[in-house]
Amino acid sequence: MAKRKVLITRRWPESVEARLSASYDTTLNEDDRPMSADALGRAFFEYDAICPTVSDQLPAGIFPSETPRAKILGNYGVGFSHIDTEAARAAGIVVTNTPDVLSECTADLAITLMLMAARRASEGEREVRAGKWTGWRPTHMVGTKVSGAVFGVLGFGRIGRTAAKRAHHGFGMKVIYYDAFPVKPELAAETQAEARDSIEAVLREADVVSLHMPGGKENYHLIDAARLAMMKPTAILVNTARGEVVDAAALADALNRGTIAGAGLDVYEGEPVIPEPLYATNAVLLPHLGSATQATREAMGMMVADNLDAFFAGKEPPNRVA
Ligand code: DGY
Repeated sequence: MAKRKVLITRRWPESVEARLSASYDTTLNEDDRPMSADALGRAFFEYDAICPTVSDQLPAGIFPSETPRAKILGNYGVGFSHIDTEAARAAGIVVTNTPDVLSECTADLAITLMLMAARRASEGEREVRAGKWTGWRPTHMVGTKVSGAVFGVLGFGRIGRTAAKRAHHGFGMKVIYYDAFPVKPELAAETQAEARDSIEAVLREADVVSLHMPGGKENYHLIDAARLAMMKPTAILVNTARGEVVDAAALADALNRGTIAGAGLDVYEGEPVIPEPLYATNAVLLPHLGSATQATREAMGMMVADNLDAFFAGKEPPNRVA
């Protein structure tokens, strides 16, 4: 039997490409640039499976109205707000993702951003590299102490809880959280985390607010000017979730007016273009590195392969989301 045709839209770790190429007739995107909407649209009729990433936009309009050849989208990533899952379902296409394997590394990056923002690490590095450091002095670039402070988590799922563990056990931070869904008491107990009954309650109390909810329409600009105004003037906002959750113009305004102290951002609405107003702030800006370690990127790819293998063996893929 001819091998099934699989499109991988970006370059993946070699070990994963090799595994997929052994079982499937794979097409790799050799120049590693986002594919055009036209090319993605055609791919539904050319391949049995498409493996997209967060850099591919798959809105409702891209899904074919005629029966496609592709029957599964094996997304390389846990977040899938770039895929219209309703439209996928309507087209008879299964969607899978890669949960768990990236929780630790993404949580590590949330903590990195918290520390960089609190301790003004980016500003300090820029000063040194620009040759502007004039020496130690008691008032030089003083930041915020996070040990013992309040770590507020919005979205207490796998990544949010993993970040909370680092904050609580590593820095003695008190953890508070809000989640739209009930959280099992034993999971909250891991960090002695206290639930709050609203986003607003977390924003008012936390010294660091770390975002871990999904992106997409439901959470579009969830953190807007009104909610930013509820945060403490000494507080820091960390976003390793999705860019569209935060109104970037309102955030830039809050930072520049000093109504919050800092921000650490890894994700942006419309990335890789970073909303212009953010450049003129003290925000720490990273290029979507949450899961970017070799081990995690390999594990994510192997999980996509497991999902395709199960699907084409006629089984339920382990990480089906639609
Ligand atoms: C994820 O897994 O969602 C990362 O943000 C990359 O897509």
